[in-house]
Amino acid sequence: MSPKPVFAGKDIVSVRDLSREGIDHILDVAETMEPLAKSGSDMLRGKIMATLFFEASTRTRLSFESAMSRLGGTSLGFSETKGTSVEKGENLADTVRVVENYADVLIVRHPLEGAARMAAEFSKIPVINAGSGAEEHPTQALLDLYTIRKARGSIDGTSVGLIGDLRYGRTVHSLAYALSQYKVNLFLISPEILRMRREVLEEVSNRVHVKESTSLRELLPELDVIYMTRIQKERFADLAEYEKVKGSYRLTAQELSKARKDSIVMHPLPRVDEVAPDVDNTKHAKYFEQVWYGLVLRMGVLALVLGAA
Ligand code: NCD
Repeated sequence: MSPKPVFAGKDIVSVRDLSREGIDHILDVAETMEPLAKSGSDMLRGKIMATLFFEASTRTRLSFESAMSRLGGTSLGFSETKGTSVEKGENLADTVRVVENYADVLIVRHPLEGAARMAAEFSKIPVINAGSGAEEHPTQALLDLYTIRKARGSIDGTSVGLIGDLRYGRTVHSLAYALSQYKVNLFLISPEILRMRREVLEEVSNRVHVKESTSLRELLPELDVIYMTRIQKERFADLAEYEKVKGSYRLTAQELSKARKDSIVMHPLPRVDEVAPDVDNTKHAKYFEQVWYGLVLRMGVLALVLGAA
């Protein structure tokens, strides 16, 4: 047996830095966190997590904080730059070099691509990327894989459709990279102007079969995983462009009658109108379970990078 990948003291900035063995190991550790998420644990007692969030968040920040506290650790940080020295013009590198003195791990969300990588270069303590502009969101991709594995038993052999904003959506960039380590069929479904970023497409299509389309209706019967995403209004330079593509896809319970019986509907949330509320009560809906898996996955990631798992 090959030795387990080591994460203690390491950054998690991009899914592209992870091997398949590394991803599988993280998912296995997350599995061991499920009972601890219910019972609580003191695995990370005395450890401190700092959250530097320069961009809006509900799930990601709260799930990291909840994960830390369920493992007996504590958290500090900010969820907007208002009231911090960033308002006085402090740059990210300085913020990182200050806050690393107060904590054992940094969780960074920033509107600029490359911000998490830069934070990791300056930081002496591990940095976890919680969203770097439109670029990547690695822990979201890991929890998405965990959800697929839980629902289907395995990631290999799955046909996955990524639907919506494949240009500005960071979750689908990370997820496409991660899925390309497995034996999957990838369907990329988006409006023409929101097609998957070229560099992501080039890399993943070297490893797995990829089909691009604009029609969800046509491909729905082929999909095991229907991964819906929000059109990222805040990332459009021109709102007139957004107006052209908003509401491009709306999945309803009726439409799902044409989907595979055992297919699952996923969404990183928040949703706007791309998944109708009547989907929530179908057996396909997995997006609220995904939230729970996000908690256990982040417990696993924190335990690993802090050397406790
Ligand atoms: C996503 C994000 O921030 O990229 N949210 C999340 O972390 N679950 C998706 C989005 O904002 O559409």
